[in-house]
Amino acid sequence: MLERVAAKDRRSQEMVYNEQLGNKRWLSRRHCFFFILVLAAVLFFNCTNKKDMVLEWNPKQWIQNHSTNLFFPFVKQNVAINITDGPAAKASALSDIAGFTTEAASTALPQTLNISSTRELMIKNKTTVTIEMIQQGLHQLFPTPVPYVSPGLYLVEYPHEYHFTINEPQKCEQGKPFVVLMVPVAPRNRAHRDIIRRTWGSENLVLDQVVKLFFLLGMQTGEDAQQVHEQLLQESKEHQDLIQSDFVDCYKNLTIKTMVMLEWLNVHCSAASYAMKIDSDTFLNVPNLIKMLLHAPKTNYMSGLVAYGGAVLRDPQSKWYVPYEILPESVYPPYALGLGYILSLDLTAKLIEASRHVKALYIEDAYLGLCMRHLGIPPTNPPDYAYFNVFPVAYSPCGYSKIIVTTTDSSIDRVWLWTNYKRQVEYC
Ligand SMILES: *[C@@H]1O[C@H](CO)[C@@H](O)[C@H](O)[C@H]1NC(C)=O
Ligand SMILES: *[C@@H]1O[C@H](CO)[C@@H](O)[C@H](O)[C@H]1NC(C)=O
Ligand SMILES: *[C@@H]1O[C@H](CO)[C@@H](O)[C@H](O)[C@H]1NC(C)=O
Repeated sequence: MLERVAAKDRRSQEMVYNEQLGNKRWLSRRHCFFFILVLAAVLFFNCTNKKDMVLEWNPKQWIQNHSTNLFFPFVKQNVAINITDGPAAKASALSDIAGFTTEAASTALPQTLNISSTRELMIKNKTTVTIEMIQQGLHQLFPTPVPYVSPGLYLVEYPHEYHFTINEPQKCEQGKPFVVLMVPVAPRNRAHRDIIRRTWGSENLVLDQVVKLFFLLGMQTGEDAQQVHEQLLQESKEHQDLIQSDFVDCYKNLTIKTMVMLEWLNVHCSAASYAMKIDSDTFLNVPNLIKMLLHAPKTNYMSGLVAYGGAVLRDPQSKWYVPYEILPESVYPPYALGLGYILSLDLTAKLIEASRHVKALYIEDAYLGLCMRHLGIPPTNPPDYAYFNVFPVAYSPCGYSKIIVTTTDSSIDRVWLWTNYKRQVEYC
């Protein structure tokens, strides 16, 4: 797997290199084309009333509309123009013609994770900058549809307009739940869903509070994709608790799943007070969760096992490796670990908005931490640190009566555990 990742990495490097070579070969032809363009543009703008054009050709607006799809190289434009002559200066002239200044560009840009330093690292050669700037100038003059650009290994395709392929559009609003439990799970993993339905997922009225349960799925890929989908439709008919969206379901896409979850909650579940995202291999003590939430803040509230000073892992072998170019800072802002975290519903819209300004890192919980920092809202610690357990707590009925959530050992029979717990807990 890692070898494959490394090979892929190498391949993409080669591609970039080849592209650069190609660019160089094209440079002289580009120059000619470019000069003709500039000439045409100057004539055109001199003969036309600029003001009439502003609306249609306003590059700022165009960027705002397209900024999610394209990574713009002009944050460091000022510097680049100072150090290069020739085409670069012309590119700057071109910018002026289009009524476009660098300052305007930077303010119009979404505030992504330290883009400037990333670009500084990437821009090693003046030639590269020049070509980018020419391309950029062309973009401004002829805003053509942006070709697909892969976000790479460490970022995911978000924001993006995904669609629900299986949905429960009414169920949450009608039930007016106090808390809605959202469980990300792979489409194929019906066994996990059935265990949850038979255990803590079956608790739908606790301490007079309505609890709802939904599973979050992406699309199955591979040869049996169609078959899996038909089984899912059947399962959805039986249980009415599946939410599926049309992104590829895989570990690297968990951030997409989380963001799609927030979108769903925002549109289809706004009547709920709280949502909890919870992993499928866990034990959840629903009454304790409700008790905690009955005393929790109603807005700007995100809680769980909050990690402080979590290191950004730089070992390429790590499951959570993030290169410096993607995130230059060495520690993550405080974030609630992904095994189970709670949100007040007002945060869904705020986090979706924040996600338009923060590059979508593939590590979903850390990513929400980055979005929370963007919002200036720190996550809240639970009243008791023992409530949330990322390492499996050894099972004992009384021990489990004091926690909210723990991961479980894969060897343990969770249905047995649940039945045993329910029978024993009254004697604690
Ligand atoms: C961005 O990176 C630069 C250089 O690495 C650093 O000095 C700066 O503090 C960073 N900014 C943020 C917002 O992290
Ligand atoms: C940088 O650009 C110059 C031409 O200006 C070229 O000769 C050189 O090979 C380039 N270096 C790299 C690393 O691309
Ligand atoms: C994640 O989902 C997107 C959208 O469906 C897809 O293009 C991409 O290939 C997926 N990522 C992986 C690693 O499969």
